[in-house]
Amino acid sequence: MPAFSVTSQRPGAWTIQRPSSVALQGSIRVPGDKSISHRALMLGAIASGETKIQGLLLGEDPRSTAECFRALGAKISELNTEQVVVQGICLGQLREPLDVLNAGNSGTTLRLMLGILASHPERFFTITGDDSLRSRPMSRVVTPLQQMGAEIWGRQQNSLAPLAIQGQALKPIHYRSPVASAQVKSCVLLAGLMAHGQTTVTEPVLSRDHSERMLQAFGAEVAVDPDAHSATVTGPAQLQGQTVIVPGDISSAAFWLVAGAIVPGSDLQITNVGVNPTRTGILEVLERMGADVTQFNQRLVAGEPVADLRVRYGPLRACEIGADLIPRLIDEIPILAVAAVFAQGTTVIRDAAELRVKESDRIAAIATQLNRLGAKVSELPDGLEITGGTPLKGAEVDSYNDHRIAMSLAIAGLNATGSTEIDRAAAAAISYPDFATTLDQLLGS
Ligand code: S3P
Repeated sequence: MPAFSVTSQRPGAWTIQRPSSVALQGSIRVPGDKSISHRALMLGAIASGETKIQGLLLGEDPRSTAECFRALGAKISELNTEQVVVQGICLGQLREPLDVLNAGNSGTTLRLMLGILASHPERFFTITGDDSLRSRPMSRVVTPLQQMGAEIWGRQQNSLAPLAIQGQALKPIHYRSPVASAQVKSCVLLAGLMAHGQTTVTEPVLSRDHSERMLQAFGAEVAVDPDAHSATVTGPAQLQGQTVIVPGDISSAAFWLVAGAIVPGSDLQITNVGVNPTRTGILEVLERMGADVTQFNQRLVAGEPVADLRVRYGPLRACEIGADLIPRLIDEIPILAVAAVFAQGTTVIRDAAELRVKESDRIAAIATQLNRLGAKVSELPDGLEITGGTPLKGAEVDSYNDHRIAMSLAIAGLNATGSTEIDRAAAAAISYPDFATTLDQLLGS
């Protein structure tokens, strides 16, 4: 039986059979950064002239963004990793689409696009998403947009998609966001592009700053105050198309970093990974856990820090993760939970209630599914408590249709005895369509 097989008996499921010697060796690249891919497509669509995107993530989420902006009038060439060309239609010139826009599974598509749509006067838009997205909170972006003068309707006091938007000329605000969320920050800054004056967002903890960096590169006037956790855009702005080189996604690299750290004998290199400091919480935590991870070839590519990473197997110890670090590793918590299962001691993750409103309730998903494999994981209202050191035993588990849960369980299954069957694993295509192929390659099966 192969070490790893994507051709499970059930469609969309993965079977992981731990081979006797499973060391992960070699050098790999991970797909383009999801956050940067969305932003490159969006800014390209609302800039004047041509934007060229190299290294775009070909996952389902950026495909949703591209489809939405095509419906809004942007010309976007066929998506590929070599070069995607976007012919922008300029701010204020979006076309009123004839049908409902569909953001699929992608919160970033819906929330960021909402800022752009709400600020387009005299146009009416409707936007929806899949089952997961239609249950995720939108009031966090609807509220600041309404303060700017936006008109948005939806179920449950305008907080759930499908949403209907009557575009308006918006006024600038200073929004003090109760959540550290790059989606909220970016939505408000994008809405501020067409407002006359300064639109500022202040957040409790600094979230990823890809929007600020890329808006500056496209010519917008954006001032950041990292100490105050705030960013200001001055409108009306004019954006000019650019070349964007998308680095590898550290959130995808995280699966291999943890795999390399927990699978005996592993020695892996992951090249061309984005190491923007607002995203590197995973590296800090792995270091605290005693993992042997090194960064080299640090460089700046199109305004984003990039490096190559090396991870080698070694013993891990438990650690505590809370408030200030959470926004810098929010998407990596499921795979960090897997690392904690193989660490000595009890790892406690707090202040991460946001995980309950991601693509799935990730606190419930990772706790219940790792426990099915024999781990000792307890749910906290805002996090997880994981006692490491209990060997895992293969079982049937479920991804909850969440890409990051599917891939985290696959890495856990690598270190379990027997066979692990992951249902609905095909969800991985949201952010990492080639994950299974890369795992197969690494295992040499
Ligand atoms: C993202 C921001 C984060 C992250 C998501 C991508 C972005 O969400 O979890 O995967 O690209 O802005 P929040 O803004 O909800 O924290």
